[in-house]
Amino acid sequence: MEYNNKSIGIFDSGVGGLTVVKEIINLLPDEKLIYLGDTARVPYGIKSKDTVIKYARSNAGFLLSKGIKILVVACNTASAYSLETLKDELSIPVIGVIEPGAKKAALSTKNGKIAVIGTPSTIRSEAYTTAINNINPELEVYSMACPLFVPLAEEGWHKGEITKQITETYLEEILKKDIDVMILGCTHYPLLKSAIQEVTGNSVLLVDSAEEIAREIRDNINKENNSEIKNSNNEFYLTDVSESFIRIAGTFLGEELNEVNLTDL
Ligand code: DGL
Repeated sequence: MEYNNKSIGIFDSGVGGLTVVKEIINLLPDEKLIYLGDTARVPYGIKSKDTVIKYARSNAGFLLSKGIKILVVACNTASAYSLETLKDELSIPVIGVIEPGAKKAALSTKNGKIAVIGTPSTIRSEAYTTAINNINPELEVYSMACPLFVPLAEEGWHKGEITKQITETYLEEILKKDIDVMILGCTHYPLLKSAIQEVTGNSVLLVDSAEEIAREIRDNINKENNSEIKNSNNEFYLTDVSESFIRIAGTFLGEELNEVNLTDL
């Protein structure tokens, strides 16, 4: 297969990565995307490193079998735990969400104090802290796991009193640190962006990893000069298809997901 006829492969633990797909479609509408959501094994955010690496390898193998030119790990937890392994093992470019988000945060902070919020596994991995301090060791990074944000986003509770209270409770300690940038280190958090911004106030810049990774992919594709006019539709695969996932998927993608394929990898 011609290199530039190949697609961009993207995987996530479920439908959350569709926030990344949405941003890639915005920036690179001519690229064909093949998306795999591992809905049978979601959530990854509370699982161990070894398990997440095992899942990431099988997801990558599936997408490689479809003929992809670049692999995008849209899931923050999978990026945190498995990116190095995938980069070592695969011969195509592998892009994760951590580096682009960390870069944007490190370049944007004025007072050198950055907050990172994500799943318990992403926070435990300290992947964002490491990536930020690799850019600038002077920067102070404060992290907080916000596990209830995933079900809130999936339930469509993107605002309202309960969401506000949960957000205030999670962010209380971190906001005492006088941070001026906060990384939304989970696929689901862009949906809660306005609720989070309401609690942080406008003086805190929210960095959306989905937007940042889309820019990184565009730069990589331009650099390799492998962009191509799309001649077929994007493809969506899930490892478990339920009605509720299809409904949620529409919210994350910002449009209805018409055709979904089931795969058991
Ligand atoms: N996609 C995951 C992430 O970005 C959130 C959902 C999960 O826990 O699997 O970390």
